[in-house]
Amino acid sequence: MNKENLDKRDEDQELIKEAVRKTCEKYDYDDQIMIQSVLEEVLEEFGSLDNLKGKRILDLGCGHVVKEENASNIKILKTDSFEKDKYKPEDLQKMHSLVLEENAYDSLISENREFEPWLCRVLKELGAEPVGIDIGNLEGEEFEHYQIDLTKKGALDFLPSESFDLIFSRLLASSPQLEFMIDKGEIDILMVELEKQANRLMKVGGKVKIDKGF
Ligand SMILES: C[S@@+](CC[C@H](N)C(=O)[O-])C[C@H]1O[C@@H](n2cnc3c(N)ncnc32)[C@H](O)[C@@H]1O
Repeated sequence: MNKENLDKRDEDQELIKEAVRKTCEKYDYDDQIMIQSVLEEVLEEFGSLDNLKGKRILDLGCGHVVKEENASNIKILKTDSFEKDKYKPEDLQKMHSLVLEENAYDSLISENREFEPWLCRVLKELGAEPVGIDIGNLEGEEFEHYQIDLTKKGALDFLPSESFDLIFSRLLASSPQLEFMIDKGEIDILMVELEKQANRLMKVGGKVKIDKGF
């Protein structure tokens, strides 16, 4: 790498750190390292920040925010780890409706804010055009977003073909919330279907990076 490229890379690193720092400050969060490492997965597809600017990036299962009023309800149902057999049918039923109505199951498990839509937030800060899709609450997010259940047939049909530079998905297949809704075999089928959709949505020369969990 020549000196000019090295200087550019250092400059990008500074801008990335600054964008992550600003995002954390804005949302009162402190795990900058986690956000930066997720961001790296996207940046390696574009090479430099200049290439990232203005790019439309679709994030499937982008993360969501649990509404304060629901978080306490959900914690009541929390046990040490999720094992369906350990729950009484009526508790499972209650949890199930919370999952579907409040879309907060991952927070029941993680009890932290790791699965908020950090990637879309920081990509927006860096001048890209992220589009986030999640079954959970995305109210008030500043990036383009849709609250959609990806297990529904034709869920992505409304998005125009060849409209994204990158279709990305991380930790959707292993999401406890998804595991709660459908079984393992159906998740595998869903991930194959999402990849098929991603190939339709991808611009010529675009990329697909979907972690299928297998
Ligand atoms: C483990 S989190 C990962 C979030 C983010 N991608 C990340 O890497 O931190 C999984 C996300 O998938 C979402 N999800 C689960 N099932 C879904 C479904 N059927 N449709 C849309 N989103 C779903 C959850 O709401 C959650 O926000």
